[in-house]
Amino acid sequence: MRKIVILTLFDKPIQQLLNFSIIKNAITKKIVEIKIINFRDYSKDKHKKVDDYQYGGGPGMVLTLQPIVDAIKKNKTKNMEVILLSPQGNTYDQKMANKFAKSKKNLMLVCGHYEGFDARIINFVDHVISIGDYVLTGGELPACIVVDSIVRLLDSCIAKKSLLNESFSKKLLDYDCYTKPKNFYGYKVPKVLLSGNHKLIEEFRKKNRLKKTKQLRPDLLRK
Ligand SMILES: C[S@@+](CC[C@H](N)C(=O)[O-])C[C@H]1O[C@@H](n2cnc3c(N)ncnc32)[C@H](O)[C@@H]1O
Repeated sequence: MRKIVILTLFDKPIQQLLNFSIIKNAITKKIVEIKIINFRDYSKDKHKKVDDYQYGGGPGMVLTLQPIVDAIKKNKTKNMEVILLSPQGNTYDQKMANKFAKSKKNLMLVCGHYEGFDARIINFVDHVISIGDYVLTGGELPACIVVDSIVRLLDSCIAKKSLLNESFSKKLLDYDCYTKPKNFYGYKVPKVLLSGNHKLIEEFRKKNRLKKTKQLRPDLLRK
C-alpha cells in the first residue's frame, strides 16, 4: 500500500477534499493510506506559533522552520520523498504524476501558507513543485491536486483501459465522448459511433484526437 503524508496548517479542508469518490474508494480498498498532519502540533512555542516577521522587513508572516522540519523528521519513513508545494517550483504535469505513481516511493507533501516558507526549508525536501503560474493562499489545494492525480494512477484504482487514451497520456488529448440522446436540440452524435463497426470507430477516434490536439493544444504535438 502506498503511503502519503500531508503536512498542513489546515487539515480539515484537505480531509474533506480527499474523502469522496475515487480517492475515498482507494483509501477503503487500501490502495493508499493518506495521513494529514497539522504541523502546528509540532511547534515548540508555548503559544504554538508557527510563523514570524521576516528578517529585513516586509509584509506578511513567514512560516518558521522548527515546526515543519520537526514534523518532517518525525513522520518521514523509509522510502519516502518530501515534496514542497511552492509557486516557485517545477510545474506539475501528467508526466510527473505518472513518475510518482510508478515509483514505489511513499510521499510527503508540505503545504505553505501566508508569505510562504523560510528559504532554508529547501535543505529538508527532495522536490519543489508548483501546480501552475499563479499564487494561491495556501498549499492545501495544490496538495489535493497532486495527490488526486497520483492516486488515480495507482494499480487497481481505476481500470487500466480507462487511462489508456486519457489526455496527456500520449501527447494527445482524449477523444470526444457522446451519450444518450442521439439527437439533442438538433446536435447529433456522429453516425460512425452508432455503426457498431469497432474498426471504424477506432479510426474515427484516432483522427478526432489528432484534430482536437492540433486545434486546442498544438504545443503538445511540438513537444
Ligand atoms: C501566498 S503563497 C506564497 C507565495 C510566495 N510569497 C511567492 O510569491 O512565491 C503561500 C503558499 O501557498 C502555496 N502555493 C501557492 N501557490 C502555489 C502554486 N501555484 N503551486 C503550489 N503551491 C502554491 C505554497 O505552499 C506557498 O508557500
